[in-house]
Amino acid sequence: MPAAFRAQCVAVGSALPERRLTNADLERMVETNDEWIVSRTGIRERRIAEPGTGLSALALPAARQCLERAGVSADTLDGIIVATISGDHVMPTTANLLQHQLGASKAFAYDLLNACNGFVAALSTAAAFIESGHAKRMLVVGGDIMSTLIDYRDRNTCILFGDGCGAVLVEAGPADGPGIIGFELHSDGAGAADLSIPCSGSAEIPTPEALARGDQFVKQNGRTVFTAAVRRMSEVCVSLLGRLSLTKADIDLLVPHQANLRIIEPTATRLGVPMDKVVVNIERVANTTAGTIPLALADAFADGRLKNGSRVLLVAFGGGLTWGALYLTWGRA
Ligand code: UT7
Repeated sequence: MPAAFRAQCVAVGSALPERRLTNADLERMVETNDEWIVSRTGIRERRIAEPGTGLSALALPAARQCLERAGVSADTLDGIIVATISGDHVMPTTANLLQHQLGASKAFAYDLLNACNGFVAALSTAAAFIESGHAKRMLVVGGDIMSTLIDYRDRNTCILFGDGCGAVLVEAGPADGPGIIGFELHSDGAGAADLSIPCSGSAEIPTPEALARGDQFVKQNGRTVFTAAVRRMSEVCVSLLGRLSLTKADIDLLVPHQANLRIIEPTATRLGVPMDKVVVNIERVANTTAGTIPLALADAFADGRLKNGSRVLLVAFGGGLTWGALYLTWGRA
């Protein structure tokens, strides 16, 4: 049965911590150098929150900016989903804290864990709520305080990540209007060990030995993840476009997860999308995990590239392993 509504993406907001951690700063912390980091990743600096900052401290200003741009008040929200792997706590969820802080009195709220694919998964979930008539207006937040999950003695990972958060407001609109046209999500748990935080749940408790090993931090088999990301990101885009009977001519903006410029460029090349249609902000904010896509959307909105009617392809890949793509036309009917 065709959906009665389409999920319109009507506004975006974002928030970054003030403090910049540059490649020069990292040169003083581990054996690395600016030339290696820029040539291997495209990253020049990342934002780092002050110790003790919960994700809600970024989610709240991002959400407020988003709601203000949309011209709606928080008490009209039906639901809030926060995609993150570094929420304030496991319980209560960051979405619950945000719901209260925003005054979203009638909204249900929960966090969604899907690592770097978290925002695409959360936006897909919101689309399903709206298309099925279970919600009319939802706030989808993606963000991480990755600095709490990174070992700043490990040069393999500490150069890659930063902190940041973004939010998108999704509303029910006419089924033939603008909005989320389609999405595709995938997982392959066989690659679980290639990107993980071993001591982050029930399987491994934080004993002094585990903490001494640094098991509370991100571990990554970089080369393996890199190869899988390049393959899976283009594969899922080609599959989604094919299913929707769309071509590269239907893409005004490609908004990829920002893990490595050397992953973004081949993804664009394989899709035949020129780099001037690709939103890249990795040089300034690095990999903020669930934050990359909403932060990139916010940058594209700020520089005028994301506007009413823009046809946008989102794509992400990350720990799990998980990946997904989502195609939308931006703005209200
Ligand atoms: O967002 C979630 C998904 N994550 C990703 O998509 C990340 C995927 N992986 C990557 O982006 C890349 O694999 C990295 C950027 C992590 C690494 O780049 P690479 O070209 O795959 O380098 P490598 O790990 O194969 O390391 C090459 C060399 C090694 O030295 P040897 O063994 O060749 O002597 C490393 O020890 O570079 C060395 N190296 C460094 N050198 C200077 C590793 N990290 C650094 C560093 N500075 N920070």
